[in-house]
Amino acid sequence: MSSLTNKHILLGVTGGIAAYKSAELVRRLQDQGASVRVVMTPAAQEFITPLTLQALSGNPVHTTLLDPEAEMGMGHIELARWADLLLVAPASADFMARLAQGLGNDLLTTLCLATAAPICLAPAMNQGMWHSPATQENLQTLRSRGITLFGPAAGAQACGDVGPGRMLEPGELADLTAQQFSSGLLAGKKVVITAGPTREPIDPVRYISNHSSGKMGYAIAQAAVEAGARVTLISGPTRLPAPDDCRRIDVETAEEMLAASLAELEGCDLFIASAAVADFRPAQLAGQKIKKGSSDTMTLELVKNPDIVSTVASHAQRPAVVVGFAAETQDVVRYARDKLQRKNLDLVIANDVSRADIGFNSDDNAVTLVWRDREESLAQRSKAQLARDLIQHFTQTP
Ligand code: C5P
Repeated sequence: MSSLTNKHILLGVTGGIAAYKSAELVRRLQDQGASVRVVMTPAAQEFITPLTLQALSGNPVHTTLLDPEAEMGMGHIELARWADLLLVAPASADFMARLAQGLGNDLLTTLCLATAAPICLAPAMNQGMWHSPATQENLQTLRSRGITLFGPAAGAQACGDVGPGRMLEPGELADLTAQQFSSGLLAGKKVVITAGPTREPIDPVRYISNHSSGKMGYAIAQAAVEAGARVTLISGPTRLPAPDDCRRIDVETAEEMLAASLAELEGCDLFIASAAVADFRPAQLAGQKIKKGSSDTMTLELVKNPDIVSTVASHAQRPAVVVGFAAETQDVVRYARDKLQRKNLDLVIANDVSRADIGFNSDDNAVTLVWRDREESLAQRSKAQLARDLIQHFTQTP
């Protein structure tokens, strides 16, 4: 059973009598585990009040594009990035026409233009409006841009007509929304992911580590599960819960991470090294807590850790696709290409960690994918969305 655990659903409500069902839809999405934020067009507010949807969603409802106060909270671009999926229900004929034209003349159309998340529409209108050639042409255009349509159903309409144009019921819409996250792209594949930092002990109370949060690797694990893979997540210490349906192996040191990785190679199709492995570890592990002593300096001898991803990439049981990450502060693509060759990888995901708004501890990331024969940049988006986009690229690698 698919669910919306940890998913951010941006619900757009446009002007139509079916807007009364949007209140129930917020609840049904939440029942499946989603966090919901609501955006209403002015026409929608003629049918249902923002207060109702605010109370149900537990978040302020966004209504205008040019509201300085709202922009200070969560601005429209942030909102567009926050979304894992944008669902417009009900979607009126007028809204779909504006979307097909690429207009950004209110908050909701602007969000549709700005977001990298998938967009789904639940049309609701009179059957005559649905059948009109203008609406049908707009639908074609929207479909050709990858926008998904949920319904409409046929039946009795509020105006007394009978025919297509009824919005699907909230429960059906919530189920269809959840299904969008299970692609089947990695069905039957075994995926092994390293994530988080490693922790290299100095003595029983101290260690060397780094600021990696593990968010990117965990997001990839979640997306791989949703794509139908059997996923093993080999994780250094993080504060994150493992995705449901994924096997998590907890490790601390680079050597433990290597041992766990090698033990998982049997039958592995795709290996993704997202862990921030400590390059060095203390040469000796002190059995007792090291005392300050009287000297003002202290020398710690370090030895190099094994390179996990390159060991995997040159192993007799090498998975078909081995992917590494490159966190750089300058010359990002050049260093990534060097890593690709040196470590014998199929793909390197490069990101610029000198930027505070993306990477390491952030919820967002922007990356450049570097293959042997090509490159592609993916603009800033949530790590969850990026992870789903990466899955698509993994299936087209090498
Ligand atoms: O060499 P560098 O640390 O920049 O390479 C980063 C990539 O190599 C990441 O994919 C990281 O997970 C992997 N790596 C590894 N083992 C190491 C060091 C890095 O698997 N000891």
